[in-house]
Amino acid sequence: MTSIRSVVQGVGSYLPKRVMTNEELSQMVDTSDEWIRERSGITQRHIAADDEYTSDLATAAALKAIENAGLSPQDINLIIVATTTPDLTFPSTATIVQEKLGIRDGAAFDIQAVCSGFIYAMHVADSMMKSGLYEHILVIGAETFSRILDWTDRTTCVLFGDGAGAMVLKRAEGGEQGVLNNFIRSDGRHCDLLYVDGGPSRTQTVGKVRMVGKQVFRYAVKDIAGAMRTCVEQAGLDIQEVNWMVPHQANQRILDGVGRQLGLKSEQVISTVALHANTSAASVPLAFDVAVKDGRIKRGDLTLLEAFGGGFTWGATLLRY
Ligand code: UT7
Repeated sequence: MTSIRSVVQGVGSYLPKRVMTNEELSQMVDTSDEWIRERSGITQRHIAADDEYTSDLATAAALKAIENAGLSPQDINLIIVATTTPDLTFPSTATIVQEKLGIRDGAAFDIQAVCSGFIYAMHVADSMMKSGLYEHILVIGAETFSRILDWTDRTTCVLFGDGAGAMVLKRAEGGEQGVLNNFIRSDGRHCDLLYVDGGPSRTQTVGKVRMVGKQVFRYAVKDIAGAMRTCVEQAGLDIQEVNWMVPHQANQRILDGVGRQLGLKSEQVISTVALHANTSAASVPLAFDVAVKDGRIKRGDLTLLEAFGGGFTWGATLLRY
């Protein structure tokens, strides 16, 4: 067994300037601030400018994470971008980010696991780090989800927002810090409960988000709680030892339900859903960055990240920050 660990050396995030409130949305579709708050906990979301692309959000978050790590872009050997809203069908958004960061070395690629993308990317990054071939890996979750919303569909358009979060992972030999375990799963039988109704091969269009929200909700609570338990148990630890849960920010009621099932106090669950809404692959690193920067998550804290999304895909990452 390798003793290589992926230590979170730096974190950063970026939100587009424009804020869209529930009130504003209620002028566009038949909804209300009260309904959105009660059912999801969301009060507002950030929306990218027309000339602002996923790679721009990703690059802004990455630059902050690299600076926070005390590094320069040239120190990065590998870039992994988790996104469902790439700038283009190809090349990967990661290669565009590589160019925007001025990096001429190493490799870059995208991962597509929708809202679970960042957890999948962490698993891949940690596994590649353990190969011993990389020193610093940049893992980014970035989305311009507003671009694939049907702004006439009140069951989806009120729930999502744009943003990006990034982590710089540094190779370490042994020690207490770093990623302790990753757990990912998928179940393709549920493709039709949360999907986009377009794509290059089937329709030659980008498509819009479609979701059977109630059913997604039911699976999400059950599968997330299970993944978190397994992820911690496989690391030989107990859920009661976890200091912080950093969940995918889909719905405050899901966060509350999962936290309750696992016996975590509500103060231990990092929630940004009220201000960011669901930013898909960006939501976990965005929330992590918020809690590090406001001083809640400290060095040495045992932190459990989790996500659930289309596919279905879901998973958890346990790390000591
Ligand atoms: O990130 C990927 C994972 N995604 C998720 O985890 C999302 C999971 N699902 C959810 O968060 C919740 O199911 C929603 C927030 C999407 C919906 O909450 P709900 O309590 O499950 O509501 P519902 O879908 O059962 O809808 C209740 C009612 C319906 O009306 P009727 O049939 O009872 O007359 C909807 O038509 O609310 C209506 N409704 C709305 N009303 C006002 C649906 N959307 C809206 C809206 N404004 N935006």
